[in-house]
Amino acid sequence: MTTQPTIPFNDGRAIPQVGLGVWQTPDDGAVTAVSAALKAGYRHVDTAAAYKNERGVGEGLRQAGVPRGEVFVTTKLWNEEQGFDRTLRAFDASLEQLGLDHVDLYLIHWPSPARDLYVDTWRAFVRLKEEGRARSIGVSNFTAEHLDRLADETGVTPAINQIELHPRFQQRALRDAHAKRGIVTQSWSPLGQGQLLEDPVVAGIAQKHGRTPAQVVIRWHLDNGLVVIPKSVTPSRITENFDVFGFALDADDLAAIARLDTGDGRIGPDPMTATF
Ligand SMILES: NC(=O)c1ccc[n+]([C@@H]2O[C@H](COP(=O)([O-])OP(=O)(O)OC[C@H]3O[C@@H](n4cnc5c(N)ncnc54)[C@H](OP(=O)(O)O)[C@@H]3O)[C@@H](O)[C@H]2O)c1
Repeated sequence: MTTQPTIPFNDGRAIPQVGLGVWQTPDDGAVTAVSAALKAGYRHVDTAAAYKNERGVGEGLRQAGVPRGEVFVTTKLWNEEQGFDRTLRAFDASLEQLGLDHVDLYLIHWPSPARDLYVDTWRAFVRLKEEGRARSIGVSNFTAEHLDRLADETGVTPAINQIELHPRFQQRALRDAHAKRGIVTQSWSPLGQGQLLEDPVVAGIAQKHGRTPAQVVIRWHLDNGLVVIPKSVTPSRITENFDVFGFALDADDLAAIARLDTGDGRIGPDPMTATF
């Protein structure tokens, strides 16, 4: 089986660099997708309470029969559950859906600045980490200012920030901010939700290496030290997306992909103005 790289966290733990994303995967589809991914060698799954498929993810983990200690499971707290007490209750509900006694990573899904509850929420996350039920804790869609407020008010820096990141939206400033603070960067919508796979520059690089556009884009994330969670419900694509350890991009490829950043290539919501 492929030995895949891991990225170290600031809390002494580490995360496998490639995981399976399951947003927009129905609950039953998650059983099949997770099971197929684990059989293909993945050891990392990224779900969320909001995806409404934690039950299916848990079932897929059990069906694949891989020992729990070998799989890294992430879930996320939905915005409406922010606040200290609500967070603790929502976490219990996620564990029950997953059928697990701990997760490897728990994330605040969005800062939701209009609610102004993310610091209290983070205090609950710190407690869950102390209890060992969330082995690591982090955030998603946070800006550098949100990250600093957490550290200033609680003394605990998140292990990771999961943000929209792909060749058309490379987030260089936020990645630099993470590096300065010892925070790992994780890329969501790493394939640009599939749109990037039609890009002629990506297609040309894929042809040169005898690889697929998806493999080239995933390889680009790996070469940039990012944790990457491509989503697919298609077993052949799940396998393809993990078969990325046997080739390397050269300096010309990396430079060409660097030029694809449009600065405003965001596909998803802006965390500062998202209204959910
Ligand atoms: N924290 C957040 O706020 C947030 C937001 C968005 C996403 N995420 C996480 O990030 C994960 C990935 O992002 P995403 O789901 O938005 O999009 P993505 O991974 O960038 O793209 C998924 C799309 O690409 C297609 N695809 C996958 N592999 C392919 C391949 N080898 N060839 C051709 N097409 C391929 C999939 O189709 P099929 O499934 O039909 O095969 C699907 O339509 C999510 O699942 C979720 O875990 C987090």
